[in-house]
Amino acid sequence: MPRPTAPSTAPPAVHDSLVLEPRDVRFDWSQLPLHWIPDEPMATHTINVLHLLLPEGERWFIRVFKDALPMIRDEQLREEVLGFIGQESIHAEAHQEVLDHLLTQGLDPRPYVRQVNWLFHRVLGEKTGLTARQRRENTIERVAFVAAIEHFTAFLGNWALNSPGLDRAEADPTMLDLLRWHGAEEVEHRSVAFDLMGHLDPGYLRRVRGMAVAGPLLVHLWVRGVRFLLAADPVLQGRIRPTWREAGLNSRRGLLPDPVRSIRSGLRYLRPGYHPTQEGSSSQALGYLAASPAARRAATR
Ligand SMILES: [Fe+2]
Ligand SMILES: [Fe+2]
Repeated sequence: MPRPTAPSTAPPAVHDSLVLEPRDVRFDWSQLPLHWIPDEPMATHTINVLHLLLPEGERWFIRVFKDALPMIRDEQLREEVLGFIGQESIHAEAHQEVLDHLLTQGLDPRPYVRQVNWLFHRVLGEKTGLTARQRRENTIERVAFVAAIEHFTAFLGNWALNSPGLDRAEADPTMLDLLRWHGAEEVEHRSVAFDLMGHLDPGYLRRVRGMAVAGPLLVHLWVRGVRFLLAADPVLQGRIRPTWREAGLNSRRGLLPDPVRSIRSGLRYLRPGYHPTQEGSSSQALGYLAASPAARRAATR
């Protein structure tokens, strides 16, 4: 059954055979150094913000998608949404284990995670006392927000798959595998939230609103997260403060995504003919998933 399309935009590319397979990966963090990019605490903690945000964020994606399931009138899309839920649930648990490991290393992430928890449960959680129509509207609005965030997770995933600077800096191989396995699955399922949003409401304004909230909020959470981790780091004890200049230098060395490119990527999402398939490469993502040590171990379990 064809998906509905906005009259003013190009029709979304529909996958004919996107089968999303949750890979039940496991990682051993017992040997992970606190600064897993050696001598690069700022780059390490800038990437570590993912571990602060993703467990609660991805659990929230799952709740939103489960709310949206009864509204889906397309069997293929329903299968993709179920595959997405399966993948995100494993992602959340994988990042949760890193958070637990940080605590054993003397860096307590809980004060920040409590705020993230509050945001995803209280501010962005399901509202009570709504009529059926308001409930549907609220679910679609949250799906649009997920779609905008998924644009950035795919952008970051694509970056992780193409980041030889991290190998040159001798970043911890287990963490690199986590980032690239997760990044590859983000690239693999990058269209699902966007297609779900288009299925429930093909209107362009919905997309703009999702990005108008998600883009600035992510920047804000990231900056706060880096500040928090650098201050809570038991080795640094607040001696390093993050700066945009340092972030720019790290990105030029390939240790972090370029902040300017990240913002430009957010703007690309607003192009009327945009579709997530225009970003990243599914074949590269699947190539990594075929080679990922964690994904290979999961395939043989
Ligand atoms: Fe994910
Ligand atoms: Fe995702």
